Amino acid sequence: MINVALLGYGTVGSGVVEVLNTNQESINKKAGDEINLKYVLDLRDFPGDPIQEKIVHDYEVIANDDSIDIVIEVMGGVEPAYTFVKRALESGKSVCTSNKELVAKHGAELLKIAKEKNINFLFEASVGGGIPIIRPLNSSLTADEIDEITGILNGTTNYILSKMADEGLDFDTVLKDAQDKGYAERNPEADVEGYDACRKIAILSSLAFGQQVDYEDIYTEGITKITAEDIKYAKAMGRSIKLLASSKKVDGKVYAMVAPGMVSTMHPLYSVSNVFNAIFAHGNVLGDVMFYGSGAGKLPTASAVVADAVDAAKHLHQNIITFWSSEKLALSDISTSKKRFFVRINGDLAKAKALFGNVTVVDVGIQGEVGFVTEVMSEADFAKVAESTQCIVNRIRMED
Ligand code: HSE
Repeated sequence: MINVALLGYGTVGSGVVEVLNTNQESINKKAGDEINLKYVLDLRDFPGDPIQEKIVHDYEVIANDDSIDIVIEVMGGVEPAYTFVKRALESGKSVCTSNKELVAKHGAELLKIAKEKNINFLFEASVGGGIPIIRPLNSSLTADEIDEITGILNGTTNYILSKMADEGLDFDTVLKDAQDKGYAERNPEADVEGYDACRKIAILSSLAFGQQVDYEDIYTEGITKITAEDIKYAKAMGRSIKLLASSKKVDGKVYAMVAPGMVSTMHPLYSVSNVFNAIFAHGNVLGDVMFYGSGAGKLPTASAVVADAVDAAKHLHQNIITFWSSEKLALSDISTSKKRFFVRINGDLAKAKALFGNVTVVDVGIQGEVGFVTEVMSEADFAKVAESTQCIVNRIRMED
């Protein structure tokens, strides 16, 4: 029997219990042993819930119980999760987590402890919810050098952008609808400002390039400035606007960025809509590959966490090597990265040409402004023009 302790009985935690109960028999067969949930740590009591008999309020009970082999952490946030997880690993318990803040900040250190102790620190659910992406990066794609990962890594913003496009609504109206439906938090900042996607691409980049990518170093823009008019222009160009979290290696330099992009119908991420997530990767020998599915939610996330627990059970005292050193990867300044830009200015074509040179006009019949696409230019050159004028209404990068 393999004893497991669950830290957190919120949405994902209750999903973990549901998955363990629903698929108990097949999970045990796949793990090669019986997975026994011994404790659930939560500050609250759950009278009437069968889980109540396993509830403990003090982490010491779990930390000091040598019969616990695996700790599942689904509390979220850096503390006290970091302290609890580190202590579990140091005392020889494998840890599975869905906690992207924890993994992005302390992943390299926690992986190192797990390696020293010959146990495992697994975090499939921290990126893309139920979509397998961490394990593929760490096992299936190891013959390749990954030179690009671009993902739609946040379901809330993808839902908002999809609904704005489908119904021609503005950001605030759709955000309110998303909050009413439970797709967006009452405080939506982490999602709509891109911070959530930023942590996730930091994790994927660290794994893809094998070195610590600090999320604080990643240029991040959210979707709060995207308007119904921008979407009209996107449609006129046969494109959709997506919040893209991207990490690319170009001539040995790694650029990472989270920002809205105008995606063409040819792009594999074009039709990823609503709350779905997808991750596109390019390997130097494999070429293109894409992973698609439910990137959030109780059961998809719990599915990934429980799969990690099964993997931890299969490798109880055998570390699965994960290529992520604590040595920091210096990201290149995005100012040298080059793209075409879609731009709206107050003014006419002559003004657009005076500012940006050769441009391609996109006409959706909005009075007093002109929308156009620039030729390929660097971020720095775009910023220079933008600083020289007050007339830019908005700009969105073209994803070519
Ligand atoms: N708020 C996140 C999302 C949840 O919308 O994708 C999953 O990390």
